[in-house]
Amino acid sequence: MSIHEEALLEVRNLTKSFGSGPETLWALDGVSFTIRRGETFGLVGESGCGKTTCGRTIVRLYEPDSGEILYRGKPISGQNRKEQKAYAGAVQMIFQDPYASLNPRMTIGDIIKEGMRIHRKGTEQHINDRMLELLGLVGLNREHASRFPYEFSGGQRQRAGIARALAVDPEFIVCDEPISALDVSIQAQIVNLLRQLQKELELTYLFIAHDLSMVRYISDRVGVMYLGHLVETASAEELYNVPVHPYTRALLSAIPDPVPSDRPICENSILQGDVPSPIGRSRGCRFAERCPYASDRCRNEQPAVEEIGPGHTVACLRWRELVTNDYGKNDPACFFCDVRAEAGLNLNRVRNENSVLYRRQNAGEPKTE
Ligand SMILES: Nc1ncnc2c1ncn2[C@@H]1O[C@H](COP(=O)(O)OP(=O)(O)O)[C@@H](O)[C@H]1O
Ligand code: SF4
Ligand SMILES: [Mg+2]
Repeated sequence: MSIHEEALLEVRNLTKSFGSGPETLWALDGVSFTIRRGETFGLVGESGCGKTTCGRTIVRLYEPDSGEILYRGKPISGQNRKEQKAYAGAVQMIFQDPYASLNPRMTIGDIIKEGMRIHRKGTEQHINDRMLELLGLVGLNREHASRFPYEFSGGQRQRAGIARALAVDPEFIVCDEPISALDVSIQAQIVNLLRQLQKELELTYLFIAHDLSMVRYISDRVGVMYLGHLVETASAEELYNVPVHPYTRALLSAIPDPVPSDRPICENSILQGDVPSPIGRSRGCRFAERCPYASDRCRNEQPAVEEIGPGHTVACLRWRELVTNDYGKNDPACFFCDVRAEAGLNLNRVRNENSVLYRRQNAGEPKTE
């Protein structure tokens, strides 16, 4: 099996709530996805959609209400103590705010060594040597070992956070908005460092972000979350070229144009309003309040997750109509039409029993990942 085919982590129907009774907040409500060994799976959605809860549940900082997380094919809920310890080393998390996640009373050297000591990674001499090696790997130097987090810049703190995660030789890292708190000038450096480490150490990432711009650059596949639901999943290329769910399209249209233009944006692709309260469960689609295509059916029926093409899933009751572009067809300013025109895409529908596969213009076989 090649590096990109073997499932390393499978999330199945994961549900996690906070509170109880009518005030129950469903942070994750039946989320499923698979992350393959060696890939980066991007998870995007506005603030409050459940991304961090998903990451924290995967690293066992939260117990799920129901559902299953499988690591290397085995449910983590059934792990014995030895397996739990191995999992706690193999699966690490890098946090959005590196300052809050580093103990202010410990030196950077001790912070990095702490995990190695807990996981008994060798003699104190070996642990010290490895700590110095890790500082070099993340672009810091040995003088930094004796400094405290407050003496570091935001970028340096995030590098220290990465070194701490790497100290226990993980296979899988949840990167929870690792660049959001950093200056724009530093963001690319940290992303490049994560990419370089992934290659060198064969790491697998869950990369969480609230906008799609950086996720596109770093991810192989992307999942889009809205209020505890995964509404669309596809390869990064397909998601950007052929977004189907109205929420995905809205997020894409919110990415600033690198070259400012007077191009009008179709009002149907502009995200209206804020994320509504996540408390309680709605009868219908959770996006209905903000969706320009919402119908009565949408307000009364939960959309199921459907596989609409190889590796492309969508949870929208009206996705077929949207794919055939019945909406915005005559609107030259429609973002969806624009994307299709610019990419030279022709979404000929190819019926295959219940699914509809995409074919690119003049391309032979339906696109696979
Ligand atoms: N420990 C907690 N207790 C109560 N509510 C929480 C807790 N953690 C997260 N939430 C709520 O769950 C929802 C999802 O939060 P979160 O996973 O942090 O979203 P995101 O990372 O996408 O911004 C939010 O409404 C948030 O307020
Ligand atoms: S199910 Fe209806 S409300 Fe929900 S995203 Fe699709 S069209 Fe919009
Ligand atoms: Mg978060």
